[in-house]
Amino acid sequence: MPSIEELYALEILDSRGRPTVQATCTLGSGASGTASVPSGASTGHAEARELRDGDRRRYGGLGCRHAVANVNGAIRSALTGRKIADQAELDLCLCELDGTPDKGRLGANAILVVSLAFARAVSQERATPLFAYFASLLGTTPRLPQLTVNLFSGGKHAGGQVSIQDILVVPCSAQSVDQALAMVYAVYQAAAAISLEKYGMRALTADEGGLAPPFLDVDAMLYDAVAAIERAGLRPGADVALAVDVASSHFYVDGNYLLDHARLASHGMIARILTWLDRYPIVSIEDGLAEEDWGAWPDLNTVLQGRALTLGDDFLCTNPGRIRRAVELRAANALLLKVNQVGTLTEAADACRLARAAGWAVVVSARSGETEDNWLADLATGWAGDFIKVGSITQSERLAKYNRLLEIEARYDLPFAGGQYEHR
Ligand code: PGA
Ligand code: ZN
Repeated sequence: MPSIEELYALEILDSRGRPTVQATCTLGSGASGTASVPSGASTGHAEARELRDGDRRRYGGLGCRHAVANVNGAIRSALTGRKIADQAELDLCLCELDGTPDKGRLGANAILVVSLAFARAVSQERATPLFAYFASLLGTTPRLPQLTVNLFSGGKHAGGQVSIQDILVVPCSAQSVDQALAMVYAVYQAAAAISLEKYGMRALTADEGGLAPPFLDVDAMLYDAVAAIERAGLRPGADVALAVDVASSHFYVDGNYLLDHARLASHGMIARILTWLDRYPIVSIEDGLAEEDWGAWPDLNTVLQGRALTLGDDFLCTNPGRIRRAVELRAANALLLKVNQVGTLTEAADACRLARAAGWAVVVSARSGETEDNWLADLATGWAGDFIKVGSITQSERLAKYNRLLEIEARYDLPFAGGQYEHR
């Protein structure tokens, strides 16, 4: 049984230059693990609450000194010298210490960073790769995830030229992570060339590294994504399909979707999504409806059935309660899993278990504000995610995860999740 000898946190900066938290956990055996936590920009209302300092004179109020102080103070006092049976006991202890439903007292950032640093320390103590430790939490057989890679961005991750957030490419004929990345590179370069020719845009990128030319509307964005696949010498649908993060909560105003200069009610929004499916090789629709539009989600799930995944991000917030309700209502069939939406590994594992029990697909996702930490690649592999969603292939905080997937693929003989969600 591990005992925690020392906990130490500090404030570091994420890929947007905003503060976040890094922590190191040292066990009695001398094994230690360091981890850092990401942060979202297009967040759901039901997410666990990050603690931010609120002092506008420093990082516009986004400082994490209080969260750091909570790790180095209350959490360290409660945990050091203590024997911890397992991850579940640690995470429960952290939740009880916080005592609020949204982790707002100590901060979800302070809590998650300890949960993750402990996981790394224990995996080091056991001399197992981190993905194998994660697999042991869920009882899964590790498997490398298929990639979904950000090609074009809009919404909150770019200048808001187009309301929807991301068009992603899914290299569905790839047989390995290695092949998948080479295909994505070819499509990304083709998309950059198209952006230059059509919009005079150098490859200026959005928060997650997606290209963000001033598209007139969503159709223009999807059309160019298909053109990029073709220009790369690949077959749209057969080799490379598309996934769309609509992130529609962020343009849902007074019960209507404000999209491409139109004002759509829920059924109008669903009809619009269906026109995209008719024209383009789309295999997944994320947050096609707003997080509070519960009544319409079952209809969306019904019409997408057999054509594309109905994927819930802001809608589900990796929250077991929301997932249970969505399963009952048949409101979705895929979970976007972001550990910091819920705040501990154990609760994220519960979310994953619920989704799997319902027969759903699982997409393990990064946040738009990331660090160079690569634990997400191990999590997606250990929990046998169908897909991983990390952003694009141009920034080191994203590449840290892809490079770790390449390392896992080269060093361990694991199956690859590709091929199961081809465009039909
Ligand atoms: P976020 O966005 O990390 O800014 O919340 C990612 C997503 O919506 O998938
Ligand atoms: Zn999303």
